[in-house]
Amino acid sequence: MKDKFYVTTPIYYPSGRFHIGTAYTTVLADSIKQYHKLKGEDTYLLTGTDEHGQKIEEKAKEAGKTPKEYVDEMAKMAKELWAKMKIEYDDYIQTTETRHEKIVQKIFDKLMEQGDIYKGEYEGWYCIPCETFFTETQLVDGKCPDCGREVKLMKEEAYFFHMKKYADKLLKYYEEHPNFIKPEYRKNEMINNFIKPGLEDLCVTRTSFDWGIKVLKDPKHIIYVWLDALTNYITALGYLSEDDTLFQKYWPADLQIVGKDIARFHLIYWPIFLMALDLPLPKTILVHNWIMMKDGKMSKSKGNVIYPETLIERYGLDSVRYFLLREMPVSQDEIFSPEAFVERYNFDLCNDLSNLLNRTVSMVNKYFSGNVPQYNGTPNNVDKELEEYTLQQIEKFDEKWNNYETANSIQEIWNLIARTNKYIDETMPWTLAKEKQTEKLKACMYHLIENLRKIAILIRPFMKDTADNIFRQIGIKEEDMKNWKYLKDYNKIQKAQVIEKGEPIFMRLNAQEEIEFLKNVMKK
Ligand code: MSP
Repeated sequence: MKDKFYVTTPIYYPSGRFHIGTAYTTVLADSIKQYHKLKGEDTYLLTGTDEHGQKIEEKAKEAGKTPKEYVDEMAKMAKELWAKMKIEYDDYIQTTETRHEKIVQKIFDKLMEQGDIYKGEYEGWYCIPCETFFTETQLVDGKCPDCGREVKLMKEEAYFFHMKKYADKLLKYYEEHPNFIKPEYRKNEMINNFIKPGLEDLCVTRTSFDWGIKVLKDPKHIIYVWLDALTNYITALGYLSEDDTLFQKYWPADLQIVGKDIARFHLIYWPIFLMALDLPLPKTILVHNWIMMKDGKMSKSKGNVIYPETLIERYGLDSVRYFLLREMPVSQDEIFSPEAFVERYNFDLCNDLSNLLNRTVSMVNKYFSGNVPQYNGTPNNVDKELEEYTLQQIEKFDEKWNNYETANSIQEIWNLIARTNKYIDETMPWTLAKEKQTEKLKACMYHLIENLRKIAILIRPFMKDTADNIFRQIGIKEEDMKNWKYLKDYNKIQKAQVIEKGEPIFMRLNAQEEIEFLKNVMKK
């Protein structure tokens, strides 16, 4: 049986257009999925929208719509963006769908019956935008510690989840599963900031608004939006439904990706809910940092937002996907800068990658009328060195990618591109041609094509169109030659023919003009 790989993104709040920061999580998730798919695994990517809560009720009202009309429109908009970004999700869940709501009610009942949820009274400071209650001591200058906005003192009859009961079990789980949380410092944050000071029981119902899932046995209570939202990862697979085939096949998730602001919910509440349901925990939860702007968080009110569509329309999808993954180290915040974007485009994509392809295609045309020469399989010294280096880079890429260090792993591919460019300067094919050293020239052209094929495979998870374009230009047609199956082989290309005239995949940008353009866009 094939290995399976189930990966999830957070489900997004339908609160308007997604900026590149929000798109980042999904690009990352899709790229990781594609990588596993190219390795022949049975992959499944889930994304969706988180559609309940007071904030959404208010947004819909402002827009003159019913909440359901509002969230459906937003989900449609999100799906359009994902299509534009070639995000190949396998399921899109909206938490207002019956398949989700019914199961959340069942889960709540189950937790209540087994005594994990009990009835009490809640008084606390509530932040409406964050949909979170805070204790007096958690407030910062009397305001919400997460977003800095005003909070309201609210008191209500409510149900509580017995978090305390699970604290030790959770700590033990962290200890015994070193891959559960990545990067590791997030684990220490959870332990020191939340678990060690003592976990409070969590209030899991609200009565102050309507737009949410009702507790079946006590319908004036609405289920807390985080309990509702977190369970999407299993309701989408049919957990507790009549058909739970997908759940049986894919749960536990192999990877759940979340931004740093929602780490606490995913690293503490989510595993505890799963423990209470007696379900296995996801293998890894990856917490990534944020894309920031020079003046702080991206926000419409600050007028410093950059939307993925703007970049895609002007520079093409792959340069955006490349930039997001290459520039954004998972474990620290990164400031989006127009200079960095243009530089990456001109240097990495145009100078390094596009030129390597162009030079190679034109030389194979010039010296062998476009036919990729056969290779006898016995490398001379310089070819051998290139082969060894290439295989070593593939290993390095694999290791880092599997550890979810995407920026570093992509750097390894670009090291390989640089090394392959250097190989042209070392072998000097023009001299080999002049001196009629045909065998060496053949081996040289073969290695260049072979390395381009390998590079195309390596970038394919995150730059699919570019990879396909490279395969087309170097005459690689068979699917097996485009995935991991023969990635490490150096003797598999047979009868390939490059295209007659190479087509640049990335054209050099006028740096000054584009930096200006991006700065202006960011002001709008
Ligand atoms: N609805 C919740 C998630 C519930 S999951 C059960 C939510 N939604 S969100 O729309 O506000 O955020 C979705 C994701 O986008 C989060 O992982 C968040 O961290 C991420 N990002 C939002 N802004 C971001 C940046 N500027 N940079 C990187 N990621 C960003 O939270």
